Amino acid sequence: MIPPDQVDEIHRAVRIEEVVGEFVMLKKRGANYIGLCPFHNEKTPSFTVSATKGIFKCFGCGKAGNAVGFLMDHLHITYPEALRWLANKYNISIKERELSDEEKKSLTEKESILILLKFAAQHYQNNLFETDEGKSVALSYLYERGLEEHIIREFGLGYSLNDKRGFTQSALQAQFSKRYLIKSGQCLYKTEYHESEIPETEDAIDAQFLIDRFQARIMFPIHDESGRVLGFGGRNLSADKNLAKYVNSPESPVYHKSEVLYGLYQAKKHIIKENASILAEGYMDVIALHQHGLRNAVASSGTSLTEGQVRKLHRFCEKVIIAFDGDDAGKKAAERAVPMLLEEGLMVYRVSFPDNHDPDSFAKAFGREALLRHIVQNTHDFLEYYVYENKDFLMRGPIERSSFIGKMASWIALIPNDIRRTLYIQELSKKLGIGEEVIQTEVTRLRKEWIKSKIIKEQSPSVLPEIAPNYDNQKHPIEILPVSHADESEILRLLLLYGNMVMEEEFTDPLTGQTQTKQMTLAEFVLEYMSIEQLMFNDPLHMKIFSLYYNNLTEKGFTGLEYFMNFPDDDVRGFITNHVIKNHEVSENWKKFNIHIADELSLSVKALKKSLQSLKEKIISQIIASLKNELKNENLDENEATILLHKIRVLEKERIEINKNLGRSGIKYIPES
Ligand code: UTP
Ligand code: MN
Repeated sequence: MIPPDQVDEIHRAVRIEEVVGEFVMLKKRGANYIGLCPFHNEKTPSFTVSATKGIFKCFGCGKAGNAVGFLMDHLHITYPEALRWLANKYNISIKERELSDEEKKSLTEKESILILLKFAAQHYQNNLFETDEGKSVALSYLYERGLEEHIIREFGLGYSLNDKRGFTQSALQAQFSKRYLIKSGQCLYKTEYHESEIPETEDAIDAQFLIDRFQARIMFPIHDESGRVLGFGGRNLSADKNLAKYVNSPESPVYHKSEVLYGLYQAKKHIIKENASILAEGYMDVIALHQHGLRNAVASSGTSLTEGQVRKLHRFCEKVIIAFDGDDAGKKAAERAVPMLLEEGLMVYRVSFPDNHDPDSFAKAFGREALLRHIVQNTHDFLEYYVYENKDFLMRGPIERSSFIGKMASWIALIPNDIRRTLYIQELSKKLGIGEEVIQTEVTRLRKEWIKSKIIKEQSPSVLPEIAPNYDNQKHPIEILPVSHADESEILRLLLLYGNMVMEEEFTDPLTGQTQTKQMTLAEFVLEYMSIEQLMFNDPLHMKIFSLYYNNLTEKGFTGLEYFMNFPDDDVRGFITNHVIKNHEVSENWKKFNIHIADELSLSVKALKKSLQSLKEKIISQIIASLKNELKNENLDENEATILLHKIRVLEKERIEINKNLGRSGIKYIPES
């Protein structure tokens, strides 16, 4: 247990932007920081961190909290674990008291497995450096392959002895539970190791049937981005072709392969610093690249690249250099990776290796200088790379050329950034000597088709904010309720027209009871109001305009309305014309009727507050409706029903309160001089 005064000390030391910054690439925007939300899938940032308030908040999915909460949610760890993590980061040594046997028992499954895996990693490392077998067979192999001791230690490499129960025995001796030996993937039970094959009780698991999954292999621990060991890759040492080259840990309660990038723990801060990562294919490549100073290298571990891994990379950087093997398999894997990375909104580069080399073998064969030179000279953005790689193919004739153009157009169509997409269209047109309009038409068609197919694929219920706690929408799918978007568009309209207007907000300090006034722009007011009330937009187009607005607000020369009127996307321009300009013309007419401009601004602020409240009311109604729907479920027990009823009552009360308030506003404004 961590003593309370140390808990305080930890809280005082924490800088939320530093903590979140370990996992998300943050950019400064005014007083806040923004980045891509790690809790939901997004390509334009709606995740904000307020250093002064010590909180984070995502406008896309509604998640919010402080640094400890962030760690708990993000790393799926408990409160004390989050505190320990922070203590470690801020070099606070905690004088923890020993856990009692009771407490040890109550450690969660995940925690227990993580402790076991940490023990395993130490065990293998010890084998490598301290046993005769490890030194003579494994360490010498690693040296022979060109790895230096410091890098072997940094990546925590180890060795599993040529022994059926080398690890099992030492883990049993250290009192680890047999169940977790199996669940962590470290041991096989007889030859079957499915969950269903494990006896119910710990006592019924027969220790003599446990054997090591990894035998006589170089062990590559796989870390999560905060350094916890989640599993292993084990490389075969013998030349026996019947043995798999690598044995990998299976999926487990802690190891979800599709979310893990090998080397990210070691590479993370370099990736953030350089805003770029090198994506390699193998464990050895990552380590070799790091050893030669390319500290931003990672690889997908034990799977082909997944969407989850790509999303994770994007949280740390905007550029990815694909450095896969030079063989056909590597080329094929790269052609799969390029569109995935483009779709995620990353800038994609490619470097290839000659004569079936991979980064590791290239370095071994030609040395460090040659490796660095090769990478610098041969990294090109994806389009340039593929045009060059296919230059002979393209010479063959129109059929080949058109199939190549089709493929490139289908990739370009995935790029979410409009400016970048347009530039690639121009580039392709120039390189292949074919009209820009032709490619533009094709890209537009492909993009529409792709968006359509995406929408069909992702017909998931709309995300609700977390006003209803513990609401499990997996168990009880929410009916999508029609929400009028009028309030959302009204808020946007007022933001775009009057966002820079300075207003004076009166508020009562809850501690002193004194009324104070605070000056802020309308844009600041909306942002603050929405984050305090945990409001967000339902409509994706509204959400897009909203985040674009705030992302650009502090940029020099940001013109608000003008920026959006010239925006490349039709849907954005359409919105501006239909909802902003039209209504603006109406309000221009007010002048004719001698309604003073100041009155209009005043009305606007009132209207804005009303819209915000009304939006909140709608969201609450939506949640109430879904809770009521849930109440109809016949399988509810009495307890659950009572909780639901209580939630509904609380929300109803809030709704009534808002309805009462709607229309009232105690706000003054200061017209721009
Ligand atoms: P490679 O065959 O390129 O291996 O597989 P490597 O990492 O370069 O190893 P060396 O240089 O031959 O020692 C690339 C990656 O594919 C996965 C591993 O993650 C490996 O690092 N892989 C490969 C497996 O999971 N299982 C296998 O049997 C082979
Ligand atoms: Mn290799």
